[in-house]
Amino acid sequence: MLFSDQTVIVTGGAKGIGAGCVRVFHAQGGNIGLLDRDQQAGEQLAHELNQQRENSVLFLPCDVAQFDDFEQCIDQIAEHFGQIDSIINNAGVHPAATSIDDFTIDQMQDLMNVNFLSTYAGAKFAMPHLRKTKGTIVNISSMTAVLGQHLSTAYCATKGAQVSFTKALALEAGPQGIRVNAVLPSNVDTPLMREWAQTLDDPQSALDRVASLQVFNRMATPEEIGRVCLFLATEQSSFLTGQAIEADGGAALDY
Ligand SMILES: NC(=O)c1ccc[n+]([C@@H]2O[C@H](COP(=O)([O-])OP(=O)(O)OC[C@H]3O[C@@H](n4cnc5c(N)ncnc54)[C@H](O)[C@@H]3O)[C@@H](O)[C@H]2O)c1
Repeated sequence: MLFSDQTVIVTGGAKGIGAGCVRVFHAQGGNIGLLDRDQQAGEQLAHELNQQRENSVLFLPCDVAQFDDFEQCIDQIAEHFGQIDSIINNAGVHPAATSIDDFTIDQMQDLMNVNFLSTYAGAKFAMPHLRKTKGTIVNISSMTAVLGQHLSTAYCATKGAQVSFTKALALEAGPQGIRVNAVLPSNVDTPLMREWAQTLDDPQSALDRVASLQVFNRMATPEEIGRVCLFLATEQSSFLTGQAIEADGGAALDY
C-alpha cells in the first residue's frame, strides 16, 4: 500500500483521467477528496468506493473556476480527513477545433480560468496544508504543451502555462519540502476524447488514427496516467521536482 493513511485531492475526479487517479490512489489505501462539477458522476464514484472502504472518499460538487468555492472545498477536505498529502490539478476541458480568428478573447479567458487558473488556485490553496505534510502537487498538462496541436492555440497555451508554473513553483516550494511535477499525456481514452471524436465526420476512424499515434497502437487508459501520478505523489519519486513527465506511449518519437 503506497498511499495508506494519506489524502489526495483530485479535481475533475468523477470521470476520465481524474477518475483513473481516484481509483489508483484508493486501491493503494488513500483517502480521496473528489471535486467535480458533475454531481451525478461524482456521487456515483464516491458511493462505489465508499462501499469498498467506509468514509474513504469525500465528494464535493465544485467548479474549480469558481475560486472562492474551490478554496472552501480544499479546506473542508483537510478538515474532514485531518490532512492533505497531495493535490492533482486535473480538471480541464478541450474546446472543439477552432481557428484563432473564430475563438474570442472572452472564450480564451474562460478557458484560462478552467484549465490554468484552476491549477494555480488549487496549488495556492493547498500549499498551507501541504507544508504540514511535506506533500506533493501534480498538474495534468498535455503533450500539446510542447508539440502544439492544429486549431488548438487556446488549449495549447493553457497547457503550456501549467508546465511553466510547475517549474517555477517547484523552485519556490522545494525548500518547504513540497514537490511539484506535471504529467503530459498524449492520448487517453476518456469521455473527453470520445466527445471530441463525436464532433468529427467519422468518429471511429478518428479514434483509430489517434490510437495509432502511440508506438503501442493504442491510447493510454486513465489508470495508466493515474499510476504516473501515484509515482509522482509518493516517496518513490522523492528526488523529482519541476519535471514535465511525458506520458506519451512514445508518440513524440521518430518525428
Ligand atoms: N484525454 C486525453 O487524451 C488528454 C490528453 C492530455 C491531457 N489531458 C488533460 O487531462 C485532463 C482530464 O481530461 P479527461 O480527458 O479526463 O477529460 P474528461 O472530460 O473525460 O473528464 C474531465 C472531468 O473534469 C470535470 N471538469 C471539467 N471542468 C471542470 C470544472 N470547471 N470544475 C470541476 N470539474 C470539471 C468533468 O466534469 C469531468 O468529470 C484535462 O486537463 C485535459 O486537458 C487529456
